[in-house]
Amino acid sequence: MNIVEIITNIAYLVASVLFIYGIKYLGSPRTARTGNFISATGMFIAVVVTLLSKSIISYELIVIGIVIGSLIGTIMSVKVKMTSMPQMVGALNGFGGGASVLVAFSEYYRYIFDEKHQSLPVDINIAIGLSIIVGAVTFSGSFIAFGKLQELISGKVIKFPLQNAVNLILIVGVVALTVYTLFDVQNVWLYVVMIAVGLVLGVLVVLPIGGADMPVVISLLNSYSGIAAAMTGFVLQNVMLIIAGALVGASGIILTNIMCKGMNRSLMNVLLGGWDNTGGSDETGTSKRMDVKSVEFEEAAMIFDSASSVIIVPGYGMAVAQAQHAVRDLANILEKKGIQVRFAIHPVAGRMPGHMNVLLAEANVPYDKLFALEEINDDFSNTDVVLVIGANDVVNPAAKTNPQSPIFGMPVLNVEQAKTVIINKRSMATGYAGIENELFGYPNALMYFGDAKDALTKLTNELKNY
Ligand code: TAP
Repeated sequence: MNIVEIITNIAYLVASVLFIYGIKYLGSPRTARTGNFISATGMFIAVVVTLLSKSIISYELIVIGIVIGSLIGTIMSVKVKMTSMPQMVGALNGFGGGASVLVAFSEYYRYIFDEKHQSLPVDINIAIGLSIIVGAVTFSGSFIAFGKLQELISGKVIKFPLQNAVNLILIVGVVALTVYTLFDVQNVWLYVVMIAVGLVLGVLVVLPIGGADMPVVISLLNSYSGIAAAMTGFVLQNVMLIIAGALVGASGIILTNIMCKGMNRSLMNVLLGGWDNTGGSDETGTSKRMDVKSVEFEEAAMIFDSASSVIIVPGYGMAVAQAQHAVRDLANILEKKGIQVRFAIHPVAGRMPGHMNVLLAEANVPYDKLFALEEINDDFSNTDVVLVIGANDVVNPAAKTNPQSPIFGMPVLNVEQAKTVIINKRSMATGYAGIENELFGYPNALMYFGDAKDALTKLTNELKNY
């Protein structure tokens, strides 16, 4: 190993340590910005070292790529709404998988058709095969997931005859093809077919899954994109890429597991069963059986004014309405009146991990006011008023009381134990799981209908008069 290689490896090691520290800091909203910065510094070091030490074919092309990519990335990060973040992440995973396919295939081409490399070592060949397969599945699967969430294609569960058998045959076939390439390494068409089968597999695996389950699928594909990158690291024999890919692969699978646990579902149930709904609200989903009481902002303000403790439970509707600033204003005015205000955050409230934390942080709600389910669930019984804002499934008592319910066993917030529960949403429509919520008919529950932003602004203005 010469001196340049030693320095390169040390720099890669430093970058890897920064990645790991970055992830550690991302574990809490309080330190997340620092975590992002630390990881970005690690990536900067890795990119600079790679540009300096490797045999670069064309700096001009790299600069053009960086300029175009940065431009698209900047526009997207400014334009894409928080509610569209899952599909944005889906698209990014897809590009990651696609990049792995392109790098692995071009490395194959370089080994076989470059004059200096006539033979392809077996380990590199296997890594090329895996990089191509996992990368292609990630690419096409991610764009199907993107299409479903963006409503470009139907979000419904799309089944076709012998679906699982066909998928199994394709998986076995593509693995057999990878093994076969070891004996016919010069045959470029085998690799082209591997890419094609990987792409078809990605489509067939994701297409049957309902749009509502896409966030979980996207997290899983995020893990796949990391695995594909790690395989590409083996192809390029780049330690940095192996470590970075493995970190993404592992954190993606941990996140998938957290989501499944938060919904009390197994990954198999998501991939094979699926909830057959499109995740949207059904405006006509009114219940005839429930005795629902509703309030207007004047009455709601009176109830808040006489409370001494309030817990706010945000959900997906707060994100849709972009009501986080209105929520903060309401919390501020309640606190000015000497009322204790806390926020209860369910692990799968909204549509992506940490969704509520990110929105509330954006509105400068102090972190020490946010409490996780297990920290606050016993406190609802000593609370005067709970305000549920655009949350539905995460406060549905059926998860505890109705063994027939699809969400039975999912941990939910015990909001019904408070003296009064005020639920703000636009209608009686269902949430993500597509099921009714018996909470709305409870004797201590009051519906406060309206778009979250409007409704909270009216409530805050009314409270200013007290
Ligand atoms: P949901 O159960 O989806 O309910 C959201 C409610 O918000 C709807 O019932 C809707 O009712 C209301 N809403 C929509 N727009 C609104 C607006 N502008 N103003 C006021 N309300 C509005 O949300 P949740 O309680 O947060 O639960 C999350 C669900 O997503 C869970 O089932 C969870 O398993 C699932 N999920 C979450 C994740 C992650 S990681 N967070 C990932 C995958 C799945 P109206 O239409 O009547 O207003």
